[in-house]
Amino acid sequence: MAISRIGVVGCGLMGSGIVETCARCGYDVIVREVNQELLDRGLARIKGSMAKGVEKGKLTAGEMDAAWARIRGTCALEELQASDLVIEAVTENMAEKKAIFSTLDRLCPAHTVIASNTSSMCITEMAAATKRPDKVLGMHFFNPVPIMPLLELVRTIQTSDDTLQVARDVGASLHKTIVVAKDTPGFIVNLLLVPYLLGAVRALENNLASREDIDTAMKLGLNHPMGPLTLLDFIGVDTAYYIANVMYDEFKEPQYAAPPLLKRMVLAGHLGRKTGKGFYDYK
Ligand code: CAA
Repeated sequence: MAISRIGVVGCGLMGSGIVETCARCGYDVIVREVNQELLDRGLARIKGSMAKGVEKGKLTAGEMDAAWARIRGTCALEELQASDLVIEAVTENMAEKKAIFSTLDRLCPAHTVIASNTSSMCITEMAAATKRPDKVLGMHFFNPVPIMPLLELVRTIQTSDDTLQVARDVGASLHKTIVVAKDTPGFIVNLLLVPYLLGAVRALENNLASREDIDTAMKLGLNHPMGPLTLLDFIGVDTAYYIANVMYDEFKEPQYAAPPLLKRMVLAGHLGRKTGKGFYDYK
């Protein structure tokens, strides 16, 4: 099936990155946010990121203008009804995701594939809110979406071969390398990443070393682009806490249990870069 129109639900950090990447690769994209203020902020983020791409020589000004012309914003989910593929990228709230999947199922034609960008939640549960579970799967992108080369596809026991192939083809057209995982909490990347990040927080809690030394050790010792505490600030302390809770709820294994410091940082609003303070200060 040829995909030409992509709908994206949510224009936050991940949603805006997905919109930008799809538009830059030639798709017509319509993105929905819940209100005009959030939509304007998301669209401005896309514009800023593409301008940075031009500055870095990754695309021309003409290509940026053409990609921008392919993007349309809306506050009405109904306007996504003509999409061949919809990628949901709202906050990690299952009730909200199920409501969106159910509405999209009602609005969209039979061929439309509905995907979630969730980092850990159960895709099968979202599929159960539709009458097309064979056309539902996970398409998990990584932040910053236009730069990170991986796309993790999540196949449920109901996802059809055709649906997986559609997602593979779209992913390849976005120049992403594809891996396929089963629908279990955390899929591949977060299954392995989350215990590592939580371990770094425990090391800090136990005064093993300073935050800088923990980060420097892992960055230079393993040639990672960022140390774990910097990466937690980058992902969002609340997002990491949320993913850990989802995984702990399902597996009941101590390696996924959020350390007390993580919970307290969330309660204090120290969520990382987005709030100007996390393990480090960004103000
Ligand atoms: N458009 C296109 N390309 C861009 C760009 C843009 N807007 N902005 C930058 N680039 C390019 C740059 O030109 C550069 O390319 P080259 O390597 O070819 O020169 C590359 O992207 C890196 O850019 P910068 O030099 O500006 O930035 P950096 O070297 O400091 O790297 C980073 C920034 C890519 C974020 C890097 O620090 C990194 O990889 N960090 C780790 C990110 C990570 O782990 N993300 C995953 C988080 S987990 C997740 O998302 C999922 C989950 O479920 C939690």
